[in-house]
Amino acid sequence: MQNEERLGDIHPENYRFLQEHIYSQVGIVLEDNKHYLLESRLASIVKTLGIGSINDLCKLLRTSRDPEVKRQVAEAMTTNETYFFRDPAHYEAIRTVLLPRLKEERRDTQTLRFWSAASSTGQEAYSLAMLLLEQGLEGWNIKILGTDFSSQVLERANAGLYQQVEINRGLPDALLKKHFRPSGVDWQLSDSVRRMVEFQTIDLRGSMRAMGPFDLVFCRNVMIYFDNKTKKNILNQIHSTLFRGGWLLLGGSESALGFDELFERQIIGGATVYVAR
Ligand SMILES: C[S@@+](CC[C@H](N)C(=O)[O-])C[C@H]1O[C@@H](n2cnc3c(N)ncnc32)[C@H](O)[C@@H]1O
Repeated sequence: MQNEERLGDIHPENYRFLQEHIYSQVGIVLEDNKHYLLESRLASIVKTLGIGSINDLCKLLRTSRDPEVKRQVAEAMTTNETYFFRDPAHYEAIRTVLLPRLKEERRDTQTLRFWSAASSTGQEAYSLAMLLLEQGLEGWNIKILGTDFSSQVLERANAGLYQQVEINRGLPDALLKKHFRPSGVDWQLSDSVRRMVEFQTIDLRGSMRAMGPFDLVFCRNVMIYFDNKTKKNILNQIHSTLFRGGWLLLGGSESALGFDELFERQIIGGATVYVAR
């Protein structure tokens, strides 16, 4: 009987190769002993390519000139979890403190700019758009930029089409009624909300020189995957895209502590916000 290799039996040199590949492609640090993670994330690529194992996939990555399979592997390793109004205290702080201030400060230009960096499938950017529509800002020039490394998630974000389980996560009933219509078994977001957001593929490790200035940047639940050097570079760059006094919002287990020269940490209600100096 032939001795078949299991999908997740990864030779140690291939494991190291994948760690380096994923770090260089997307900046994610894959710890040792995450074989199960590689197995679950890469299984469908191995299957689609009709090859036998992750070791075969490594051979292909080493020899192929095709950037597509390299991109697919990197994207498969990213976590795209997101939901509407994640960390509600952030939205409450925006509604009660940031927007009243901006209404005052920007009353001449009536222009507001927001950035959802690492936006995944769009719920973060669209939650902000729906909140802004409730704030009496008619006639203002408002743009929200949503960006992500993964073009796959951005395709979904652009479509604004969500499954029932995604709707069930965080979207208040009143906003569902107001901004969505049924589309088969899914829900389609209205054009008036979709028009407020523009999505673009951007790798946070690249240059942000041409971006901004923004009044607020969400960069939530992505920095946890990066090492300190990458995080430092990203925080420095985000700071340069913010107006002075602009806000940076991070995920619940992330912080900009140690970057006091760039940001002042403020607690607003239940939210931690980092204010650009
Ligand atoms: C867990 S989701 C967070 C989504 C949203 N910000 C939230 O908090 O709900 C992380 C997102 O970061 C993106 N990502 C990972 N590495 C990235 C990079 N180097 N540049 C830009 N986006 C990246 C992933 O594709 C994924 O969609």
